[in-house]
Amino acid sequence: ELVDGPPAKTRRLDPESGAELPFPNTKVTFLRPPPPFQKPMPISSFSYDKSRALRFDNSSMRYYAAPPIGAQLSYGYNRWVRRPEEKGRLDGLLTAFSRAKKDNKVNLADVGVVSWRGVMTKILTSPYEERDGWELNVMLEHGTLYLEEHTSDEKVEEKNNIEPRHRTQMYYGYAFESYGTSDTPYRGQTSTSAEPPCWGGDVDTNVQWCSVVRTKLGDTRLLIGGEVDCVREKYTGTTDSFVELKTSMTIRSAQDNARFEKKLLKFYFQSFLLGVPEIVVGFRTPRGEVKEVQSFKTTQLPRLVRGKAGAWDPSMCLDWGCQFISFLKESVVEEKGTVWRVKFVPGNGVRLVKLDETLVEEVVGKEDRVGFLPRWYWDELTE
Ligand code: A3P
Ligand code: MG
Ligand code: MG
Repeated sequence: ELVDGPPAKTRRLDPESGAELPFPNTKVTFLRPPPPFQKPMPISSFSYDKSRALRFDNSSMRYYAAPPIGAQLSYGYNRWVRRPEEKGRLDGLLTAFSRAKKDNKVNLADVGVVSWRGVMTKILTSPYEERDGWELNVMLEHGTLYLEEHTSDEKVEEKNNIEPRHRTQMYYGYAFESYGTSDTPYRGQTSTSAEPPCWGGDVDTNVQWCSVVRTKLGDTRLLIGGEVDCVREKYTGTTDSFVELKTSMTIRSAQDNARFEKKLLKFYFQSFLLGVPEIVVGFRTPRGEVKEVQSFKTTQLPRLVRGKAGAWDPSMCLDWGCQFISFLKESVVEEKGTVWRVKFVPGNGVRLVKLDETLVEEVVGKEDRVGFLPRWYWDELTE
């Protein structure tokens, strides 16, 4: 019978080519107890407004409102105000972190990792990822790891010029968020007769409400920021009322079902990492008509997929996440402003290298930064 062996050993190569950490075998049953994950506690929330200005209030927070069956997700596409794609900088999160430190809500010395939720999701789900690789920029300062997604200028350009068909599909997700939310706790008579029922307002992807949570994976305290789609009834300072909205294709065959189960791994960690307890999925046709709406409890998803065709085990991912963090802590040498790069190639594992000056320049550009950290944040760190 296949069972899990001891944790994978880091393979150290010469300093030039870096170090690598191989993946666990996800085909075997995971038997060790998974590392503990502490319930995420919000320490701050903030809003980006229409002009992408960051405000420390809940002005961009939305309330859950049941999205209607039959909703047409292509509605309003031509009025979509699109936020341009940008590099995955930590600036907004660091601003929130800095304020929380001053308010004594969090202690820098305790925090092992600072990152956006999207990055943590990519790390944790990578043992099961067969298609999309990723690259991260890493800094270690005063014992805290900062992780940002590395998006090259070409990649940013590419993301800004995606095919119309993909762009339409992407819009469906945002349109579903409009149908599923309202700017008041009870859906007011905001929709005019010209709009379809339950339309929550035209899509502007500049506008976001974010929560910054403190949590712990194994022995490492994490500070994670991420967008929260909406809350049920009210926000009380905990994650209990958070709701994530997702869309997915309607399921018509066993193969579709296996595909959906696989996809649930990403839905799961995206919500789990921020403590979001509920995921509302709109099942849609290829042309964007909502056929069914189903609510899932985040904590029940692992049990839902267990033993199925598209099965995954969150313990495998959490254990991998711990190994990954230990690997970085052991391999990254703390030097002022040095930037490291982690590259993930599906199936292979991850490789870490120290960036030379030219590559750091490519990361920082002409901006006023130390490594990829904004200068003002760096100055606060070294005060
Ligand atoms: P769906 O995932 O529901 O289709 P989120 O669900 O994280 O709140 O994101 C809202 C929508 O943004 C997604 O809706 C999807 O359309 C789009 N989106 C988010 N991340 C994306 C990515 N990595 N690539 C393409 N589209 C993405
Ligand atoms: Mg969202
Ligand atoms: Mg969503």
